[in-house]
Parts: sequence; C-alpha cells; structure tokens
Amino acid sequence: MNTAITLNNGISMPILGLGLYKAADADAENAISTAATLGYHLFDTASSYKNEEAVGRGIAKCGLPREEVFVTTKIWNNAQRIGNVEGAFRRSLERLGLDYVDLYLIHWPVPGCYLDTWKVMEEIYHSGMARAIGVSNFNEYELSDLMEHCEVVPAVNQIEYHPLFNQDSIRRFCQQNGIAVQAYAPLARGAYLDSPILQRIAEKYNRSTAQVGLRWILQKGLCVIPKSIHVDRLLENSQIFDFELDEMEMAAIDGLNENYRAANIPEDLLK
Ligand SMILES: NC(=O)c1ccc[n+]([C@@H]2O[C@H](COP(=O)([O-])OP(=O)(O)OC[C@H]3O[C@@H](n4cnc5c(N)ncnc54)[C@H](OP(=O)(O)O)[C@@H]3O)[C@@H](O)[C@H]2O)c1
Repeated sequence: MNTAITLNNGISMPILGLGLYKAADADAENAISTAATLGYHLFDTASSYKNEEAVGRGIAKCGLPREEVFVTTKIWNNAQRIGNVEGAFRRSLERLGLDYVDLYLIHWPVPGCYLDTWKVMEEIYHSGMARAIGVSNFNEYELSDLMEHCEVVPAVNQIEYHPLFNQDSIRRFCQQNGIAVQAYAPLARGAYLDSPILQRIAEKYNRSTAQVGLRWILQKGLCVIPKSIHVDRLLENSQIFDFELDEMEMAAIDGLNENYRAANIPEDLLK
C-alpha cells in the first residue's frame, strides 16, 4: 500500500499523520520529533488547539527538511464570523513560524459564513501560502453548496470516522467528487479498543485493536491522523501498512457502527 495519496490539485499528502489536539506545548514538540523518526511526515494542528507555536518549534527541530513535512492547520469559527480570514491565516503562519502551510482547513461549517470564508481561502491558495485548501466536518449539503458557488473544489474533508462512527454516505460522496477524506479521532479516543470483535481480528494478525481499527479506515480509502504523545503508541499507530483485513473482517467491523461521536460538536454551532 502507498503511504501517500495525490490530492485533487496534484500535491501529495501522507496517508498517516500525527494529530495534535490536546497535546500540551512540550508534549507536542517532543511528539513531533519522535514521530518524525518513526516515519510520520504529516502534523495536524488548528488555531483552536492553542499549540501552533509549539508545533512550529517541533517541526523546526524534528530533523526533516520543510519540503518533506506536511503541515495542516485550521480556521476557527469566531474568525469566520468576524470575517478576517486572511488575518487569522497570517496569525497561524506566524505562530507556526512558517511561510506556507500544506493544507488550510475550515474547521467547522459556520452557517452563513463558510462560503465567504472559502472565497478568501481560494485567494490564499492562489497566493501559494497554502498548497491546498479543504474543509472539516462538512456534510453533503455543505460540500455541494461550496462546489456550486465557489471555484476551487476542497482537496480534503476531515471528518470523524472510526468503527463506531462510520460516516459512509459522506465518505462515498467525497470519494465520488475527488475530495480526499481524512479520519479524525480514528481511535474514537479509545472507545472501541476493547471490542471483542476487534480483539478476535487483532489476535489473528498479532496486532492491537488500535492497529486493526486504523487499518480498517485505510482500507475504506481514508487517511488517518491518530494522536499520541507516547513513543510506543506512535510506533504502534504507524505499523498499519503491512497487513490486510479480508472482506469478512471488513464487513464485521462495518457492523460495529453505532453513530457514536467521540468529539463534540462545538457549542456555538448547537445554538
Ligand atoms: N477537525 C476536527 O474537528 C477534529 C476534531 C477532533 C480531532 N481532530 C484531529 O484528529 C486528531 C486525532 O483525534 P483525537 O486526538 O481526538 O483522538 P484519537 O486519535 O482517536 O485518540 C487519541 C487518544 O487515544 C490515545 N491513544 C493513542 N494511540 C493509542 C493506542 N495505540 N492505544 C491506546 N490509546 C491510544 C491517546 O493518548 P496518548 O496521547 O496519551 O497516547 C489519546 O488519548 C486530533 O489530535 C486532531 O489533530 C480534528
């Protein structure tokens, strides 16, 4: 299996990345260095994670040349409402200490704002300061709206996706429209790791249930960004390219879906 995919604008994105939500500054910095030695090249942060400076420091000292690192960050909801998208982007760049990011995402589709946000992101993309632009947490309706009213088709939709929350209709829609799907919370923050079905499959391959869950996601055609700040887990989560689940196992894991969300929808979007 390849370890990178080609996005709809021709750039390459690693299939595996390190998620950095809730990674405190020192942990984020150290985890990036450790992960880089284990073969991770993609690092996922967001302005709302409040660790962009530490992520920037981690990237600067991780030993990989800038062109071999893939950095994702995201614009938060309040910046979309205020309407200063370019300012928010420039502040993220400054905090990261970079002159471009590889992927800039709309973190959540703020109703009434996301189309205007996207139009500014298109300008950022054309300026070269983001090598690709994409979205996160968008449903089929919001993606169609964007594609109807804007010029650039999102390169990526980052959504929660794991055996307990298999958002298959949105996955199919994205795949049919050339939008790469990146799975966040791919371990459901631990919620499926004691599943007996996953344990049975894990035993067969001499793997962990985390590895089986991540592998199932890869075989669905998605990319994954599990978070860990521990070397043993970083290694474990990266060893998912050298075994293959069969059709029966894939179907058995499909059956675990219970529409369980590990990540909350932000409160400002529930009002
Ligand atoms: N776009 C969005 O709205 C959005 C939302 C949520 C997350 N994300 C992104 O997706 C990334 C991943 O999601 P997530 O951090 O929410 O959840 P996750 O990756 O599903 O789970 C992370 C949790 O699992 C633990 N863990 C990691 N590897 C493990 C293993 N092999 N065995 C047992 N436990 C393990 C980690 O602990 P340790 O660190 O202590 O190892 C951490 O507590 C985030 O970090 C963030 O970058 C995006």
